[in-house]
Amino acid sequence: MKNHILGVSAYYHDSAACLLSDGHIVAAAQEERFTRKKFDARFPVNAIHYCLEEGGIALADLKYFVFYDKPLIKFERLLETYVAFAPKGIKSFLAAMPVWLKEKLLLKKVLQEELLGLDGIKVRSGLPPVLFGEHHESHAASAFYPSPFKSAAVLCMDGVGEWATTSAWLGEGNDLAPLWEIQFPHSIGLLYSAFTYYTGFRVNSGEYKVMGLAPYGKPKHVRAIYDHLIDLKPDGTFRLNMDYFNYCTGLTMTSGKFDDLFGGPPRKPESKLTQRDMDLARSIQEVTEEVMLRLARSLHRETGAENLCLAGGVALNCVGNGRILREGPFKGLWIQPSAGDAGGALGAALTVWHKLEGKPRTTDGASDAMQGSYLGPSFLNEEIEKFLRQKEAPYQRINDDVLYDKLAQELDDGKVLGWFQGRMEFGPRALGARSIVGDARNPKMQSVMNLKIKYRESFRPFAPSVLRDRVSDYFEMDVDSPYMLLVAPVSEKRRIKMTADQESLWGIDLLNVPRSDIPAATHVDYSARVQTVHRETNPKYYNLLKAFEARTGCGVVVNTSFNVRNEPIVCTPEDAYRCFMRSAIDILVLENCVVYKAEQKPLSEDADWQQEYEMD
Ligand SMILES: [Fe+2]
Repeated sequence: MKNHILGVSAYYHDSAACLLSDGHIVAAAQEERFTRKKFDARFPVNAIHYCLEEGGIALADLKYFVFYDKPLIKFERLLETYVAFAPKGIKSFLAAMPVWLKEKLLLKKVLQEELLGLDGIKVRSGLPPVLFGEHHESHAASAFYPSPFKSAAVLCMDGVGEWATTSAWLGEGNDLAPLWEIQFPHSIGLLYSAFTYYTGFRVNSGEYKVMGLAPYGKPKHVRAIYDHLIDLKPDGTFRLNMDYFNYCTGLTMTSGKFDDLFGGPPRKPESKLTQRDMDLARSIQEVTEEVMLRLARSLHRETGAENLCLAGGVALNCVGNGRILREGPFKGLWIQPSAGDAGGALGAALTVWHKLEGKPRTTDGASDAMQGSYLGPSFLNEEIEKFLRQKEAPYQRINDDVLYDKLAQELDDGKVLGWFQGRMEFGPRALGARSIVGDARNPKMQSVMNLKIKYRESFRPFAPSVLRDRVSDYFEMDVDSPYMLLVAPVSEKRRIKMTADQESLWGIDLLNVPRSDIPAATHVDYSARVQTVHRETNPKYYNLLKAFEARTGCGVVVNTSFNVRNEPIVCTPEDAYRCFMRSAIDILVLENCVVYKAEQKPLSEDADWQQEYEMD
């Protein structure tokens, strides 16, 4: 009988489940993909069902069920924060307490009750033992254990879990030892989130937009941030001046003093972006990168380790990651693709396996254990055909020997593909299993995809997927980046210099000026968020790129997640078909079944679908 461990994260942001069997990652998925509610924080019933089904086991077969953090310590942190600031903050204290007293403190009981209904187990004694990990240890474990390194320094940076907001670890074999931590309320994640809030985006999801907006701005406010908000030490550790923030006591991120410092109230969500927002984004991005670089350098000095692993929400800052790769002292860098709290489910399970069970860890020093992060559900051609026939949707089933050449030709003709194949990605990025794909050379592709397909703000470029062996031909980097977590400059030889007239443009007008021979994937500062494509982990996507390269000479396509704005990435053929019909995607590729938009009947009574999703 195998040793099955189920890890779960829930009740905060982006719930997820992960099944580990004899240390092998069998399945991992976020609840939002099943419920179609973005960042669904509820107990991940659907993700758990999926993991058990994928493993071919029942709940009763689990040796352990492990939750990714310790609610009691979190509660102590909340309580101590309120006491320290009392009587300020009584409003948010009263708002938070009922949930804490009713649910979170009694979490073990709550979890057991959730599990009782779930798989036919009727009595508590029939349930697997319920364990609790620690928040940052779960992040650190998700970064180190699946990494390709035998030993590594580990840096975790997020908003906050229990007390830690930044933590440093040393991983060696199956051991992961804590070194030091920075505690709440001093948090680089919350500082970034404060600017996310202030520039009118949603905290915990809009951070990506701030990073995308930064290249349009000037670092005008960097001095003010250092002088007033953050006391950054040479070793990268820091303290925040809490006079400027409201997250300890209020229901907002920033205080009136913060507004005064930057000359006005926060931008209203969905209102016009101004140069001030862009300058603020650029400024906080520069400060964050400096913190990340200093912390990485100190950790290198302190441990002498050759390799660095990253996790926690701040590790999704791929511009900062790219700088650590290029400027930092480490030889190897590996970032957990599910770096946010969803990945905590995986880290918690791995901690039980290696620490509690004491199982050794093996790695060949080259490949990681994430299997490309393709750890979610997949669908057979037969299931897809059954669905399409039910829908009465015309389609063609095309064999592999013809499929890729045909699709390469469609891409070359300017068509946009909804690309659905293999197991769904675990983590926030689409990596060629649930992706929308287009021709990166096409100067119109960026605005077409932004406005007609994603229905989103047009200031963000798309990410390039590039054949691994062509990466240095396009970008100033030559390492694996399978999880799209590194930003690199587009190579000099591919750039297009701007004319004097174009140089006088500013802000978003710059986006329409082609910057390279792959303009749809090049940001205004000539950077790109690179995904390298590998035959071993995603042969079908690799074949598509190879066919496109054979036809056009170009080894790059643009890749964006298969969803419309505010919608979670598609999970099933049905989700994919619906998204395809609601957007301007030309061709839907569901494994070997190819569906042309021109041949479909429009969806009936679907006019209000954009109301379905909460704004992000
Ligand atoms: Fe976290």
